[in-house]
Formats: sequence, C-alpha cells, structure tokens
Amino acid sequence: MSSRPAFDLAGWSQHHLDQVEQALGQWVGKDAPARLGEAMRYAVLDGGKRLRPLLVLAAYEAVQNGAGDMDREVASRAGLGEAALRAGMDEAALRAGMDEAALRAACAVELIHAYSLVHDDMPCMDNDVLRRGKPTVHVQFGEAQALLAGDGLQAFAFELLTPEDERILPAVQATLCRQLARAAGSAGMAGGQAIDLASVGLALTQDQLRNMHRLKTGALLQASVMMGVACGTSSAAAQKALADYGAALGLAFQVVDDILDVVADSATLGKTAGKDAASDKPTYVSLLGLAPAQAHAQELLAQAHDALAASGLADTRALAALADMVVNRSY
Ligand code: IPE
Ligand code: IPE
Ligand code: MG
Ligand code: MG
Ligand code: MG
Repeated sequence: MSSRPAFDLAGWSQHHLDQVEQALGQWVGKDAPARLGEAMRYAVLDGGKRLRPLLVLAAYEAVQNGAGDMDREVASRAGLGEAALRAGMDEAALRAGMDEAALRAACAVELIHAYSLVHDDMPCMDNDVLRRGKPTVHVQFGEAQALLAGDGLQAFAFELLTPEDERILPAVQATLCRQLARAAGSAGMAGGQAIDLASVGLALTQDQLRNMHRLKTGALLQASVMMGVACGTSSAAAQKALADYGAALGLAFQVVDDILDVVADSATLGKTAGKDAASDKPTYVSLLGLAPAQAHAQELLAQAHDALAASGLADTRALAALADMVVNRSY
C-alpha cells in the first residue's frame, strides 16, 4: 500500500493543459501556405494526452518550489543571477522569463512528439490510418503533405525555443535546444525509430529491446523532465534524481504502450489496436509475456518513485502522480 498523500492530478493538470492548448492554438501553423498550416494544426490540436508538456511543467514547478538555500547558492555560482543582471533583468523579470521558457519548452516537446507520430504512422513506417481518434495526417492530407507537416512541426519547435528578444536568457535557450535536439535526433527518437524498423521479425534480447524503447520513446520523455529542470534552479543531486525518474518513466511508458496494444481496443486507444503483433514488432509483451510485462512496468514505476524520494525536492507530487498515470493508464 502506498503511503503517499492523495494528489488531485486532474485539478493540477487542468490549468496547465489550458495554458498549453491556448499557446499551441495561437502559435502552430500560422502563415503556412498551401494547406500546410492546416495539416500541422490537424496533427497537433484537439487530441493527445499532453503527457510531455505536463512533465515539463511539473518538473519546472518541482525545482522552482523545491529550491532551498543550497540550490540558490548553486544557481548563483552557475552565474544565472549574474547573467540576468547583465541582461538588465531584475528577479521578477528573470522569473517571468523562466515561466515563459517552461511554457515554450512544454509546447516544443509536444510539437516534436506530434511530428514523430505523423511520420510514425506513414505507410513507409507503421502504416496506420487512425491516430488520436481521427484519420492519420497522410490519410487526410496525402503523404507529401504529412511529410512536410512533420518537417514544419520539427523546425517550429526550435523556433519556439528561441524568441527574438532576450527575455529568456540565451544560455537557457541554448540548453533547451540542445536537450530537445539530442532527444529527437539519431541518438534519441529518430535513432530508436530506425532500430524499430530494422527489428521487424527479429527476436531481440531484453537489453536490445530496452535500448530501442529508451531511444524511440524514453529519450523525449526524459528530455521533457530535464527541460523543465533547465528552466529552474536545482542542485546536481536533484538533477541526477530527476534524470533517473525520467529514464524509468520513459521506459515504463513504452512498456505500457506495448501492453495497451494487446489489451485495449481501438476506440479506447484512438489508434488501431493489435498492430504490433500484426506487424511482427518485438515488444515487451512478445518478449516477456503479458503478466511479466505488466510486472516490469510496476517495477519501473517503483524506480521512478524512488528517484523522486532521492531528489531532496520539497514537492514532487505532480511528478509522482504523472508516473502513476503513465503506468496505470487505460489509453
Ligand atoms: C504514443 O504516445 C506514441 C508513443 C511514443 C508510444 P502517446 O500515447 O503519448 O500519444 P498521445 O500524445 O497521447 O496521442
Ligand atoms: C512510436 O512507437 C514511437 C514514436 C517515436 C512515435 P509506436 O509505433 O509503438 O507508437 P504508436 O503505438 O504507433 O503510438
Ligand atoms: Mg512505430
Ligand atoms: Mg506506431
Ligand atoms: Mg505502440
């Protein structure tokens, strides 16, 4: 039995989801010609659990609210205060800039995620016709437009992280871009997707499967956490703990995605169930069996909670509740 106090995740999420939806609706696909904007908006708006943005914002709040004297000392040694001073910022302006950075980071990660889904669904990859309860982007707009919508979303993610004036410290902008680029690229999501395609019909070892899942899905989820961290100030120990949390949660997420593909129906998932077995994809269920895969997801959840407990942060309840949601979700 858990001794953790109850936390109202739905209540906590609502305000943040409203902020993210409003920002995405305002920013995405404006001024794009020849129906490209329509395809980009179709891919991003009105759907999805928005887990990655919520992780960014929960991690940001955990480090902002949890920053003790030691963390403040670390921040001033790291020159954040000095950099703010040089940029002519007082503490309120610095805080407003960090709040804005966190919201932009939340949206940027979701844009990369949405782009990865558009490409993942294309006939050259998983060949899926249903996503977030709607026809996939290539079904609705054609393959070329789906390819371009993904390209446009990926580029726009980085544009969002680098607004033209300096109300977000340039060093923070650079860190966020680096974290997102690494997680999305060949050492992260794109690399993992390459392994996924190369693994069809193969019997992977558990190490190989773990590596594939960490890259294709885990990297972006862990980056979501660490981008939230990068918008605040925290000790090295807290950063290490939150990286461990993100790694455990990121892997758990894809283990559960594999499980849901087997146990849930298409209407609930908003995407076609049973696709992994039909496409001969190696998954945690095909490798371990259903019950051991479920047990493994619970082990990873326990690791995520242990990492939060080791963080020394005062309030990690939102992060804890998001981890519970990832593992106990039904879609
Ligand atoms: C689905 O991700 C794709 C994977 C990385 C497994 P989500 O389950 O987070 O999809 P949405 O954003 O809620 O649609
Ligand atoms: C996709 O994994 C991971 C991505 C990087 C998009 P899946 O192919 O299992 O995701 P779903 O099941 O189609 O959402
Ligand atoms: Mg796939
Ligand atoms: Mg897929
Ligand atoms: Mg899947």
